[in-house]
Amino acid sequence: MKGKYIMFEKAEELRNLFADKIANAKASADIEQLRIEFLGKKGSVAALMQELRNVPNEQKKEAGQKINEIKQLIEKSISDRIEEIKKAEELALIESTESYDETMPVSTDFGSYHPITLVRREVENIFLSMGFNVEDYSEITDDYNCFEALNIPKHHPARDMQDTYYLSSNQLLKTHTSAAQNTILRKYKSSLEAGNPIRAIFPGRCFRNEKIDACHENTFFQMEGIMVDKDISISNLIYFMKTMLSEVFQRDVTVRLRPGFFPFVEPGFELDIQCLICGGEGCPSCKDSGWLELCPCGMIHPNVLTAAGIDPEEYTGFAFGLGLTRLAMMRYGVKDIRVFNSGNLNDLSQFTEKSFTRPEEDA
Ligand code: FA5
Repeated sequence: MKGKYIMFEKAEELRNLFADKIANAKASADIEQLRIEFLGKKGSVAALMQELRNVPNEQKKEAGQKINEIKQLIEKSISDRIEEIKKAEELALIESTESYDETMPVSTDFGSYHPITLVRREVENIFLSMGFNVEDYSEITDDYNCFEALNIPKHHPARDMQDTYYLSSNQLLKTHTSAAQNTILRKYKSSLEAGNPIRAIFPGRCFRNEKIDACHENTFFQMEGIMVDKDISISNLIYFMKTMLSEVFQRDVTVRLRPGFFPFVEPGFELDIQCLICGGEGCPSCKDSGWLELCPCGMIHPNVLTAAGIDPEEYTGFAFGLGLTRLAMMRYGVKDIRVFNSGNLNDLSQFTEKSFTRPEEDA
């Protein structure tokens, strides 16, 4: 018997077999198994299709329709059953989840501030008390603000020190807070011309393609500061740096000022702090040098003022780039900078309630 009737019979057998099996399927995995068994490339429906070859041509259409009908029925049953099982599984999960008492008092364990937030706020308060504004600036900037406006043209070797993460559309993650200088100078230019000095600090997250070690991270914080007015000199710069450090540490710390090159300042300085972890003996936190580069600074280069539309013949200013993450290391006696990005709450939560403890007292 090769005609459509035998195909009808086989199709009905398949439907009954499927109905039995799906009635017993309990989990999503069982349904998947059925899907492969009946609808897979080598499944029962495909095998029945193959048999259409043996049906006389004039009966093929009807037999084919019958098989398709069964196939659609199987497909629909499978998707309906998957939905049912999913709902049942979700319900079981909800019921198995521990219930809670809404009338219980709220936990008093509120978490803690990140040590960098704490030290940032401290430094902000110091500068606020000296008449500085605190400015916010994006983490994403462009080549112009990060380099060109700072007297670092394309192909300048200074760029090698600050390789970063480039985004499409000519944008990049800022490598230093100096990237905001041009924007802030422009923001206050008219106020400056009206006789008010520019005094601003702008903390922010910086990103560099960096070899990570105990004192280098690829994501770290700096705080930039600028002051521009008529007759601003290096003495003003040194005064503000000294005040900031003595306020932050509340004790004498040994610092050294040495010449440093940054294309956006002239003259430029490196301000290093004697390592408070080892007391200057040399350790991994200071790369065995006894000193930590903390706050490069200098007199703003005339080209930078000009790029912001400020006349360098009339105005001068200083700028500094405080390494806020390194300051937090020294401030709290944290030996390894990687702690700050670690997400380890045991390490990070211990500073919130504490006022400054000297590293040697923690030992
Ligand atoms: C700069 O970023 C300059 N923009 C600073 C500046 C501003 C100079 C204004 C003059 C005038 P430098 O690359 O040295 O310079 O970084 C400044 C400080 O950021 C360093 O002294 C250090 O404290 C901190 N720093 C730099 N790179 C890292 C890093 N990979 N991890 C942690 N801290 C870093």
